[in-house]
Amino acid sequence: MLKKTIEQAFNEQMNKELASAYIYAAMAADFAVKNYNGFSRWMTAQAREEMAHAQKFYEFLLERGGRPLYDTLEKPQKSWDSVRAAFEHALRHEQFITKSIDELVNLARKEDDKAAEIFLQWFVTEQVEEEDSVETVLAKFELAGEDKRGLYLLDKELGSRE
Ligand code: FEO
Repeated sequence: MLKKTIEQAFNEQMNKELASAYIYAAMAADFAVKNYNGFSRWMTAQAREEMAHAQKFYEFLLERGGRPLYDTLEKPQKSWDSVRAAFEHALRHEQFITKSIDELVNLARKEDDKAAEIFLQWFVTEQVEEEDSVETVLAKFELAGEDKRGLYLLDKELGSRE
Protein backbone atom coordinates (compact mmCIF):
# COMPACT_ATOMS: atom_id res chain seq x y z
CA MET A 1 0.00 0.00 0.00
CA LEU A 2 1.30 3.40 -0.98
CA LYS A 3 1.71 5.80 1.91
CA LYS A 4 -0.03 9.17 1.53
CA THR A 5 3.25 11.05 2.01
CA ILE A 6 4.83 9.20 -0.93
CA GLU A 7 1.69 9.55 -3.05
CA GLN A 8 1.61 13.29 -2.50
CA ALA A 9 5.35 13.79 -3.06
CA PHE A 10 5.31 11.68 -6.23
CA ASN A 11 2.35 13.68 -7.53
CA GLU A 12 4.25 16.90 -6.86
CA GLN A 13 7.21 15.50 -8.78
CA MET A 14 5.00 14.40 -11.68
CA ASN A 15 3.77 17.98 -11.93
CA LYS A 16 7.30 19.36 -11.69
CA GLU A 17 8.27 17.16 -14.64
CA LEU A 18 5.28 18.49 -16.59
CA ALA A 19 6.28 22.05 -15.64
CA SER A 20 9.78 21.27 -16.92
CA ALA A 21 8.28 20.18 -20.25
CA TYR A 22 6.30 23.43 -20.33
CA ILE A 23 9.40 25.57 -19.73
CA TYR A 24 11.41 23.76 -22.41
CA ALA A 25 8.54 23.90 -24.89
CA ALA A 26 8.37 27.67 -24.28
CA MET A 27 12.11 27.91 -24.93
CA ALA A 28 11.68 25.87 -28.13
CA ALA A 29 8.98 28.29 -29.30
CA ASP A 30 11.12 31.31 -28.46
CA PHE A 31 14.06 29.86 -30.40
CA ALA A 32 11.81 28.95 -33.34
CA VAL A 33 10.42 32.47 -33.76
CA LYS A 34 14.00 33.77 -33.69
CA ASN A 35 14.93 31.30 -36.46
CA TYR A 36 17.18 29.18 -34.30
CA ASN A 37 15.69 25.95 -35.57
CA GLY A 38 18.45 23.71 -34.21
CA PHE A 39 18.19 25.05 -30.66
CA SER A 40 14.42 24.79 -30.99
CA ARG A 41 14.63 21.15 -32.05
CA TRP A 42 16.94 20.37 -29.11
CA MET A 43 14.52 21.95 -26.64
CA THR A 44 11.54 20.22 -28.21
CA ALA A 45 13.32 16.89 -27.69
CA GLN A 46 14.03 17.96 -24.10
CA ALA A 47 10.37 18.81 -23.52
CA ARG A 48 9.38 15.36 -24.82
CA GLU A 49 11.82 13.72 -22.40
CA GLU A 50 10.21 15.60 -19.54
CA MET A 51 6.78 14.34 -20.60
CA ALA A 52 8.23 10.81 -20.49
CA HIS A 53 9.60 11.49 -16.99
CA ALA A 54 6.15 12.63 -15.84
CA GLN A 55 4.64 9.49 -17.36
CA LYS A 56 6.99 7.30 -15.31
CA PHE A 57 5.64 8.87 -12.10
CA TYR A 58 2.08 8.52 -13.39
CA GLU A 59 2.56 4.80 -14.04
CA PHE A 60 4.29 4.18 -10.71
CA LEU A 61 1.46 5.89 -8.85
CA LEU A 62 -1.15 3.75 -10.60
CA GLU A 63 0.78 0.52 -10.15
CA ARG A 64 1.02 1.15 -6.43
CA GLY A 65 -2.66 1.91 -6.03
CA GLY A 66 -2.16 5.68 -5.92
CA ARG A 67 -4.06 8.41 -7.72
CA PRO A 68 -2.18 10.61 -10.23
CA LEU A 69 -3.39 14.20 -9.86
CA TYR A 70 -2.70 16.91 -12.39
CA ASP A 71 -2.15 20.35 -10.91
CA THR A 72 -2.08 23.87 -12.32
CA LEU A 73 1.20 24.62 -14.07
CA GLU A 74 2.92 27.96 -13.68
CA LYS A 75 2.92 30.08 -16.80
CA PRO A 76 6.39 29.76 -18.33
CA GLN A 77 8.60 32.67 -19.29
CA LYS A 78 7.82 33.86 -22.81
CA SER A 79 11.23 34.85 -24.11
CA TRP A 80 14.87 34.90 -23.11
CA ASP A 81 17.44 37.64 -23.70
CA SER A 82 19.83 35.26 -25.42
CA VAL A 83 20.18 31.59 -26.29
CA ARG A 84 22.79 31.29 -23.59
CA ALA A 85 20.47 32.85 -21.01
CA ALA A 86 17.88 30.19 -21.83
CA PHE A 87 20.40 27.36 -21.38
CA GLU A 88 21.60 28.91 -18.11
CA HIS A 89 17.97 28.92 -16.98
CA ALA A 90 17.68 25.27 -18.06
CA LEU A 91 20.73 24.36 -15.96
CA ARG A 92 19.35 26.13 -12.87
CA HIS A 93 16.09 24.32 -13.41
CA GLU A 94 17.76 20.92 -13.70
CA GLN A 95 19.70 21.59 -10.50
CA PHE A 96 16.38 22.33 -8.82
CA ILE A 97 14.95 19.04 -10.15
CA THR A 98 18.01 17.12 -8.96
CA LYS A 99 17.50 18.50 -5.46
CA SER A 100 13.84 17.57 -5.62
CA ILE A 101 14.67 13.96 -6.65
CA ASP A 102 17.26 13.71 -3.87
CA GLU A 103 14.63 14.82 -1.36
CA LEU A 104 12.27 12.13 -2.69
CA VAL A 105 14.96 9.50 -2.13
CA ASN A 106 15.32 10.72 1.47
CA LEU A 107 11.55 10.52 1.92
CA ALA A 108 11.38 7.00 0.45
CA ARG A 109 14.08 5.92 2.91
CA LYS A 110 12.35 7.61 5.82
CA GLU A 111 9.08 5.85 4.93
CA ASP A 112 10.93 2.58 4.32
CA ASP A 113 9.41 2.30 0.83
CA LYS A 114 11.93 0.12 -1.03
CA ALA A 115 9.98 0.08 -4.31
CA ALA A 116 9.87 3.89 -4.36
CA GLU A 117 13.57 4.09 -3.54
CA ILE A 118 14.51 1.66 -6.33
CA PHE A 119 12.22 3.47 -8.79
CA LEU A 120 13.95 6.75 -7.95
CA GLN A 121 17.42 5.37 -8.68
CA TRP A 122 16.72 5.76 -12.40
CA PHE A 123 15.99 9.45 -11.84
CA VAL A 124 19.13 9.95 -9.75
CA THR A 125 21.20 8.68 -12.68
CA GLU A 126 19.09 10.53 -15.22
CA GLN A 127 19.66 13.84 -13.41
CA VAL A 128 23.42 13.43 -13.76
CA GLU A 129 22.86 13.13 -17.50
CA GLU A 130 20.35 15.98 -17.58
CA GLU A 131 22.70 18.44 -15.91
CA ASP A 132 25.63 17.23 -17.98
CA SER A 133 23.87 17.68 -21.33
CA VAL A 134 23.02 21.32 -20.55
CA GLU A 135 26.50 21.99 -19.15
CA THR A 136 27.95 20.57 -22.37
CA VAL A 137 25.94 23.04 -24.43
CA LEU A 138 27.04 25.91 -22.16
CA ALA A 139 30.68 24.81 -22.56
CA LYS A 140 30.22 24.95 -26.32
CA PHE A 141 29.24 28.60 -26.09
CA GLU A 142 32.69 29.18 -24.63
CA LEU A 143 34.29 27.39 -27.58
CA ALA A 144 32.17 28.68 -30.44
CA GLY A 145 31.55 32.15 -29.05
CA GLU A 146 28.27 33.98 -29.09
CA ASP A 147 28.73 36.05 -32.20
CA LYS A 148 26.47 35.29 -35.17
CA ARG A 149 28.82 32.72 -36.65
CA GLY A 150 29.26 30.86 -33.34
CA LEU A 151 25.51 30.74 -32.80
CA TYR A 152 24.94 29.58 -36.38
CA LEU A 153 27.37 26.68 -35.92
CA LEU A 154 25.93 25.64 -32.56
CA ASP A 155 22.39 25.88 -33.87
CA LYS A 156 23.37 23.52 -36.66
CA GLU A 157 25.06 21.08 -34.28
CA LEU A 158 22.23 20.96 -31.73
CA GLY A 159 19.70 20.50 -34.52
CA SER A 160 21.05 16.99 -35.05
CA ARG A 161 19.63 15.78 -31.72
CA GLU A 162 17.18 12.92 -32.28
FE1 FEO B 1 12.95 15.42 -15.75
FE2 FEO B 1 15.08 17.31 -16.86
O1 FEO B 1 14.43 16.39 -15.43
